[in-house]
Amino acid sequence: MSALILVNGEVRDDCIAAGMQALRKGAPALDVAEIVARAVESDVKDHSVGFSGLPNIMGEVELDASIMDGATLATGAVSALKGYLHPISVARQVMERLPHVLLTDAGAARFAAEIGAEAGDLLDDESKAIYLKRLQAVGKEWAALREIRDWSEIANLESLISSGKVPLIDLVTRAMRYHEGGDTMNVIVRDASGHIVSAVTTSGVAWKYPGRVGDSPNIGAGNYADDRYGAAVATGMGELTIRHATCVRAVIAMGYDRRIGEAGHETLRDMSRIAEARGAWIRMLLLDRNGTVGGYCTHNGSTLKVQRIDESAPQVIICEHVI
Ligand code: GLY
Repeated sequence: MSALILVNGEVRDDCIAAGMQALRKGAPALDVAEIVARAVESDVKDHSVGFSGLPNIMGEVELDASIMDGATLATGAVSALKGYLHPISVARQVMERLPHVLLTDAGAARFAAEIGAEAGDLLDDESKAIYLKRLQAVGKEWAALREIRDWSEIANLESLISSGKVPLIDLVTRAMRYHEGGDTMNVIVRDASGHIVSAVTTSGVAWKYPGRVGDSPNIGAGNYADDRYGAAVATGMGELTIRHATCVRAVIAMGYDRRIGEAGHETLRDMSRIAEARGAWIRMLLLDRNGTVGGYCTHNGSTLKVQRIDESAPQVIICEHVI
């Protein structure tokens, strides 16, 4: 069975190439998954991951990430991490250096500082402009929001909320109707020795309530890997896969010898019954223990990319639409 890299279709080929170069040199799946994830975290055009990711409703970028080693079921994750450029590397260090699996918010930032992780401002001009435009559009009902005309006035939002002029719950609920940015980043790597690692990194859904944690750092929801059965990773509305434990269900289904397509379709079909929110969708990528890959999505037109070690470029495959 050949070594391979599997990602969601939005990941740029050069990010895959960075991982493929390491895979060809014999790097372990953990290193390769981290390399690919870091490359996407640095992509300025990707407004759903790492640097330039879209912020929460208060204008702050909060990053979620996890990594899972299918050989040992070891895992590390961070959520609501602010001010660090590579949450995936912090997540890996949580796995390797702490007797914990998930650190959040200030604790995650404290650990990132302690290990010397790379700090930096996560917003760029484009992500600030997207945020401001949306804030102004959804805030038409609250005259007070017109006080925020440009980024230098963003700090005023806190006092508008604490004075009761702008209800934060309503603001989040309205803003969340808009899907903007790109998508969470998923990667599954199988290395030359057959070990599987899965990793997920994201700035989460745009306009989220501060402190909201999605499925990406929730092991079993948005990420799961077990060398014996395969791996699953998800993008989309994390609240659904958290409620449903979607990725662990799909991996266990493969463990019970369901074919990959059956595991993908049955798992997402079962999840769909709770997808009552308008516009809420999920895409799940699977790798089974035989090296077969599959992509399954509750909406049409979604893709994955896969590159095996002996192939010169990634193949793009349309995910199967689960109805
Ligand atoms: N799936 C990414 C998120 O819900 O944050």
